[in-house]
Amino acid sequence: MAQTQSLSIEHSQSDYSFWDRLCILKDRWIADTRFQNQVAKIPFIKNIAKKRANQLFDVMAGFVYTQILLSCVRLNLFNLLKDGPLNLDEIKKACSLDAIPLKKLLDAAVSIRLLEMRSKGRYGLGILGAPMVGNTALSSMIEHHTVLYEDLRDPLLLLSGDIEIKNLEKFWPYVSPDEKEQDSLKDKERVKNYSDLMSASLPLVADQVVDAYDFSRHECLLDVGGGQGTFLKRVFLNAPQLRRKLFDLPGVAGLAKDSFSLTADHQDIEVHGGDFFQDPLPTGADLITLIRVIFDHDDERVKILLRSIFAALPPEGKLLIAEPMADTPDHPAMGHAYFGFYLLAMGRGRPRTIQEMSNLAIHSGFRSVEVLRCNMPINAQVLLISK
Ligand SMILES: C[S@@+](CC[C@H](N)C(=O)[O-])C[C@H]1O[C@@H](n2cnc3c(N)ncnc32)[C@H](O)[C@@H]1O
Repeated sequence: MAQTQSLSIEHSQSDYSFWDRLCILKDRWIADTRFQNQVAKIPFIKNIAKKRANQLFDVMAGFVYTQILLSCVRLNLFNLLKDGPLNLDEIKKACSLDAIPLKKLLDAAVSIRLLEMRSKGRYGLGILGAPMVGNTALSSMIEHHTVLYEDLRDPLLLLSGDIEIKNLEKFWPYVSPDEKEQDSLKDKERVKNYSDLMSASLPLVADQVVDAYDFSRHECLLDVGGGQGTFLKRVFLNAPQLRRKLFDLPGVAGLAKDSFSLTADHQDIEVHGGDFFQDPLPTGADLITLIRVIFDHDDERVKILLRSIFAALPPEGKLLIAEPMADTPDHPAMGHAYFGFYLLAMGRGRPRTIQEMSNLAIHSGFRSVEVLRCNMPINAQVLLISK
């Protein structure tokens, strides 16, 4: 069993600000069980105390909730209930579980608001379950998290870098340069797996980007790290006149080419295979996009990529970056907690703040950075960067 580490450190109290000292007093009160018990009896304040207790409980129990959600997704419960509530027997007909464990799952899902009790003991969609209906983007990420879940089993081992095989690192072959793309069947399968996940989850980000920016003001768009081309296909719906190009690793570019060849609307997209850290990017586009690309890489590599984009753009060209970012207002846990640990398990990259992104862009020669308004910044923030 993992041990709690015992720490004994001298605090340099003389350095503490007035605010630090106030916070120490507050922390001592809150940590004191007698104080907690007294507060639990005071009207109004007791509601704040209950809310905090719930929040802490949710942080502690979050990994259990995740598995309840995963079970619901695997049993396709949300889609099953989309046309109306069903009782246990009706749900059982469509599920692989017996009545007793199924009821356990359904009741658990009700308690975390994925489902809701309706008339005559029927189960309907809950306030958190309803958005899951038909949501293949989120479902694919929830299923994918089983890989991360394994790597998080011993978080201190993960943090110290002592894990021998990280499942997530294997899932993303391009993070280990020597494993980037070998011509074996296994690697082709891995490239296809991560590219499929990216295509399935892209709507979470792509809808934000096309809402935030008018692509029709450009003549030609190059999507760098564009995967199988799902983003370029989405942009076409808003800007059908735009010429489009895609750059990605050769294995992924091959998948994009195959996919474009299937539809007349996309057959004219130029596809380029290469390594953006080594090969020059194709020129001719007045807009370049980086969708969920930067956070995979460390600062030095990001600077190489940004300088290469700068070189590929014409004098008035624009770069648009979209990805989830650290310290996003109202969504603090998404950055350093979720992506911080996801990218740690992946083995490279980090979530960056808007300021850190802007510094990297300016350092790479760009003139200015504008933050575009988007509706769901938890999915992505969008930066428009001018040369
Ligand atoms: C996280 S995925 C994002 C894909 C797509 N933009 C999206 O949002 O769905 C990162 C993409 O960058 C590509 N990539 C990573 N390293 C690369 C490199 N050195 N050269 C070219 N492409 C690279 C990957 O193959 C992958 O398609």
